[in-house]
Amino acid sequence: MKRIFSGVKPTGHLTLGNYLGAVRRWADVDQHRADALFCVVDLHALTVEHDPARVRRLSRQAATLLLASGLDPELCTVFVQSHVDEHARLSYVLECVATDGEMRRMIQYKEKAARERERGGSVRLSLLTYPVLMAADILAYGTDEVPVGDDQTQHVELARDLAVRFNQRYGHTFVVPRATHPEVAARVMSLQEPTSKMGKSDDVGPGIVYLLDEPDVVRKKIMRAVTDSGQDVVYDRKARPGVANLLDILAACEGGNPEALSGVYESYGALKKDTAEAVVELLRPVQERHKQLCADPAYVEGVLRDGAEKAREMARPKVDAAYRAIGLLPAG
Ligand code: TYM
Repeated sequence: MKRIFSGVKPTGHLTLGNYLGAVRRWADVDQHRADALFCVVDLHALTVEHDPARVRRLSRQAATLLLASGLDPELCTVFVQSHVDEHARLSYVLECVATDGEMRRMIQYKEKAARERERGGSVRLSLLTYPVLMAADILAYGTDEVPVGDDQTQHVELARDLAVRFNQRYGHTFVVPRATHPEVAARVMSLQEPTSKMGKSDDVGPGIVYLLDEPDVVRKKIMRAVTDSGQDVVYDRKARPGVANLLDILAACEGGNPEALSGVYESYGALKKDTAEAVVELLRPVQERHKQLCADPAYVEGVLRDGAEKAREMARPKVDAAYRAIGLLPAG
């Protein structure tokens, strides 16, 4: 059976981008067709300035939302990264096969480091090594596929490169993973700045639809989305990024094709209205289930405890094998 691993970082409230680009597919498809693990990657949230209490809160919320989105602990493993030591253990060993040049070339590192510096802050070393920890997340489980949005492609490529390099130098240890993306909405854009990604930690307020936004808030954000200067509804991501983004979102909600949908609409207003209603309907069951789960925090805690135990058992043999292969003396 195929092994699937993916994760979400608790640096902000989960967004429609996270849902359409990743989480929905984990629930609807991936957990049913493979041995799948889904992780709240809290160690990754410490790579930029953070408030400890907020990270804890967001980690709990992210785990609850993953379950509310339909991840079923009977079908897959849901857990929190810091509960499984193997991630950090393997990350160090992979740092010994990665190079600093490789890290400095990572697009997300360059963008985030520039932003930290603009704010007058300093760049944490963990921001530079972030992709190595992500590679460890993936490689520790012998992962075949990593279902992610478009923005994570470069990071998964790095995990592949490190796996191949490690195997060549120290003997076959790791499965070489590959990224998979949804056909539509692999990169949902900000509603206010449709040339930038809708990112939970990058953007603010009106450009982002959060999974827990009330229906009226969703409607308002989508109705006020920045569209393009033209009049007719055409699907052109370069020339008409705002309209293309709405068509992508609508197509992802309804299971259609964005290009075909563009022919159905004669005005931006009608497109926005239908998109808003489609998103409200998409989020409704997730929000209802989230409310129920919030009333039962012991259930969520139990799922995470069992998930961590299962994950630990799965990761340990692989990480032990990597330690032996690279020359570390077994503890006996
Ligand atoms: P994160 O937390 O930024 O995002 C979680 C998932 O949501 C996808 N995503 C999007 N998809 C489409 N449109 C968007 N606007 C959008 N925004 C986010 C992301 O591609 C991702 O699939 N580094 C990762 C977390 C991570 C991870 C891993 C993922 C850590 N270790 C191992 C896979 C495997 C991240 O920051 O995701």
